[in-house]
Amino acid sequence: MSITGIKGMNDILPGEVETWRFLENEARRVFETFGFSEIRVPVVEKTELFLRSIGETTDIVEKEMYTFTDKGGNSISLRPEGTAPVVRSFIQNKLHALDPVAKLYYMGPMYRYERPQKGRYRQFHQIGAEVLGLESPKIDAQVLFMLVRFFEAVDIGDVELQINSLGCPECRPGYRAALVEFLAERLDRLCEDCRRRFGANPMRVLDCKVPGCAETTIGAPSVIESLCSVCGDHFSEVRGLIGDLGLSYAVNPRMVRGLDYYTKTAFEMVTGSIGAQNAVAAGGRYDGLVRELGGPPIPGIGFAMGVERLILLREGQQIAPPRLPLFIASLGEEASREAFLYMSRLQRLGIRAEMDYEGKSLKSQMRRAGKLGARFVLILGEEEVSRKKAPLRDMDEGTQEEISLEDADLRIAERL
Ligand code: HAM
Repeated sequence: MSITGIKGMNDILPGEVETWRFLENEARRVFETFGFSEIRVPVVEKTELFLRSIGETTDIVEKEMYTFTDKGGNSISLRPEGTAPVVRSFIQNKLHALDPVAKLYYMGPMYRYERPQKGRYRQFHQIGAEVLGLESPKIDAQVLFMLVRFFEAVDIGDVELQINSLGCPECRPGYRAALVEFLAERLDRLCEDCRRRFGANPMRVLDCKVPGCAETTIGAPSVIESLCSVCGDHFSEVRGLIGDLGLSYAVNPRMVRGLDYYTKTAFEMVTGSIGAQNAVAAGGRYDGLVRELGGPPIPGIGFAMGVERLILLREGQQIAPPRLPLFIASLGEEASREAFLYMSRLQRLGIRAEMDYEGKSLKSQMRRAGKLGARFVLILGEEEVSRKKAPLRDMDEGTQEEISLEDADLRIAERL
């Protein structure tokens, strides 16, 4: 029996990869316009990094991490997300000593042991960006603006920006207490998961997708109404700025995010068109994280997009692979050898060319040229080789002209 890949971990095949590269290239282009530089961090880290950043009582850490003991007896985990590794690297490499502001972006695979379904995989890919060292609401607005710019650049329109503020260590405990009081009276109507969350992480109850829980928490206290004046001012300033930038958004006071490191601004790009997995991008501010991980008190904000979900949203808009400029058909061994040398000459010029290696009939070679979508076909027979002239067929126009083989590479290059 043949060996198959791991459930929830997908191959990205030729024909699909062009769209991936398009999204990655557009991210690089847009993010670099905003002054971001790429950072590459390992896909495995010490498990402790994720416990301390994402939080021990989150679903990701409790249920979804790929955690192993290595041969040295250390607990290591495949990264479930990119923020913690980037912040770890920022602290370890003392990037703050080089520049008080770091704007970093990354792309690559992440791993979560979730139940696979449309838009949810065990190996998935994120494109993310993080800003470290700036507290101003202007940077929140810049990050949101950059995210929206990216969606425009890749022509994804069917998304809504939702924002919320999750407060800070000053105001969150008060909110938490009010929420606990509200939930305590309704505990028997919550699902089993939520009853567990109630003790460890009550805000997560607001995010539960079980219909009974969603209904029970209607009328729960709103986090926005409990913000301290610093968080409240920050949130109104962010709203004012993104309003001035013309971004449309909705405030969603029930958005709590599934990672514990957030403070103040939190946001998601939500869509109605790819089923249950409706967040295409998500992020927020994490002003306490650098310190929590052993660094100086430096604020941060960022987001990550799920590439597979971006691709689902672009369904029907696949990027076509680049077209084959030239197929060289040949008849007879001598012409085939000439075709081979000729093809190599074009490759040296950076022009892609293909030929038949197996002495097939002209008809079958023309069929193959058509299948490969060749723009031109150069037809070489023994006579053409000795005359040093050969017909070049324009496959789009259906026309044919004779060109000299001496400078045919240049002639072809000119026409492309
Ligand atoms: P997150 O909400 O856990 O945040 O994930 C961000 C995005 O990754 C999601 O909105 C979704 O598009 C995608 N995603 C997550 N899990 C899966 C999955 N199993 N399959 C497919 N796509 C998935 C974070 O990871 C934070 N690090 C974002 C951030 C950056 N916050 C601040 N900076």
